[in-house]
This record gives sequence, C-alpha cells and structure tokens, in this order.
Amino acid sequence: MAREFDPGYRGRYRPLVLSYPAETVYPADAFRVEWGPIFHRGRLDGSARVLVIGQDPAAHETITRRILVGEAGQRAQGLLARLGITRSYVFINTFLYSVYGQGGGAKHIADPDITRYRNRWIDATVKDQQIEAVISLGQLADKAYQAWRTTPLGASSRAPYATVRHPTYPESASATGTITKAAAFQKLCESWNQALDALHGAVTPDVPVALRHYGTTITAQDLAPIPDADLPPGLPAWMGDLDAWAARTGEDTQKKRATITVTVPTRFRTWPAL
Ligand code: URA
Repeated sequence: MAREFDPGYRGRYRPLVLSYPAETVYPADAFRVEWGPIFHRGRLDGSARVLVIGQDPAAHETITRRILVGEAGQRAQGLLARLGITRSYVFINTFLYSVYGQGGGAKHIADPDITRYRNRWIDATVKDQQIEAVISLGQLADKAYQAWRTTPLGASSRAPYATVRHPTYPESASATGTITKAAAFQKLCESWNQALDALHGAVTPDVPVALRHYGTTITAQDLAPIPDADLPPGLPAWMGDLDAWAARTGEDTQKKRATITVTVPTRFRTWPAL
C-alpha cells in the first residue's frame, strides 16, 4: 500500500524545530506546554503560495503533530479549496502550544519571545517561496500578522492579505450567550465570502475553480479532508478524515488537562467482529 506523507523539517525549518521556546517563554498557566509544540501543516518545499495563520492547536492537532487538522482545519481547508488551493499552502499558528484557560492568548499575544519566534517562522515561509496571499484566522492571528508587518521582511511584503473570523467562531461566540450559533455562522460566512472576493483570482490556483460563495452556514459539504501529504508517515488515514476522533476527557480540570481520548470512528472499524 502506498500513501503520501509529510517528509518533515529540513533546510531553514530544521533549526526552528530543533530549538524552540519552552516553558520559560510559554508559561504553563496559560499554555498546555506538557503536550509539546506543534509547528505547522502543509508545504515546506518551496511550493506554498498561500500562508494561513491560525491560532493554537487543539486535541486532534496534539495527536497528529500537525496543526489545523480537526474540524477548524477542515473548514479552513474548504476555504482554500474555494480559491482552488488544494496543495500549495502552508499553515502556521499564532501560538506553538494550545492556549489554556480564558484570556491566556490575549495576555501573551505580544510577548517578545513568542513574537520573535513566530516571526522567524513567517520569515522562513516567505523567504522560501512565492507567497501570493496571506490569510489570518481570528483576531489573535491578525495581531500576529500585524506584528510581522512591523519587521523588515513583513514591511516589504506585497502579498494580498485577508483576515477572517476564526473557523470555530460560531461555537466560541455562541457559548458566551451573546449571539446564537446560527447568527454566528452567518457572520463567519460573510467574513469568509469577503476573503473569497479579495483573494479569488489573486492567487494561482492548483485547480481552477469558479468563485462560489458560502451560504448562511457551513455544512458538511463545505469541509475538506486533510490530505495524506500533510500528515506524518504512518498516521492512520482516518486521522485526516472528517469524523471527530479526539477529545479532552476527565472528570476534573486536572484530569482533563492530562488526558486526550482517541477513538477510532465507527465507520473505520474494519476489524472482524468476534
Ligand atoms: N484552531 C487553530 O487556530 N489552530 C489549530 O491548530 C487548531 C484549531
């Protein structure tokens, strides 16, 4: 059986992965440093044309060691597909580690060592290839992009830029009780449609597609699976598929922080019943 895989970190990415900020930079009261840093997803071979900046890794990302592979990633993958970008992209996150607790991300967004390391990643991706567009997912990612724009390389960037609502905005905004999930989905779609208007035609597609707007919500048809080529070798194929398979579990905050439960989705249980 042959399956594509992500070959890992070489060239200018190797030093970034070899030596990265740990707990002295990312405090453990605000980040789940115990699960390790998770660096990127997508092309590091010079072929990426779209750079996407996400926020921070969640449970699925913690297991696969690549970012934006869970539902948020599948929504973002669907957005790229509407630009005709199916392969030539690279995702990095604003934070290397999962944010823990309320407000930790906002509190640390401008920390100099976090910013410096993140800017080294953006510099590497921009130096390596012809980035034709940059997309940030959510307000913290927009701040990350703006911070990079104050650097020499960032200031010289001519790539069109779009900042959109984070793919999990409907869930996070509706959880505060200030907006219904349906209304939040509508806002998300409006924001993503604006990005499509700005970027469709500005990036060279892998697969040319006509401009197609989202409706008023994101449906299962709007998700796109994570390509095998984005995942480390040997990862089971279902880890890139659309079913959710990882969750933080535990009866109290200590156990929940210490536990991620991975479950093979029912439709992938191919073993014989005994
Ligand atoms: N959301 C993000 O912004 N990044 C991830 O890696 C996962 C979810």
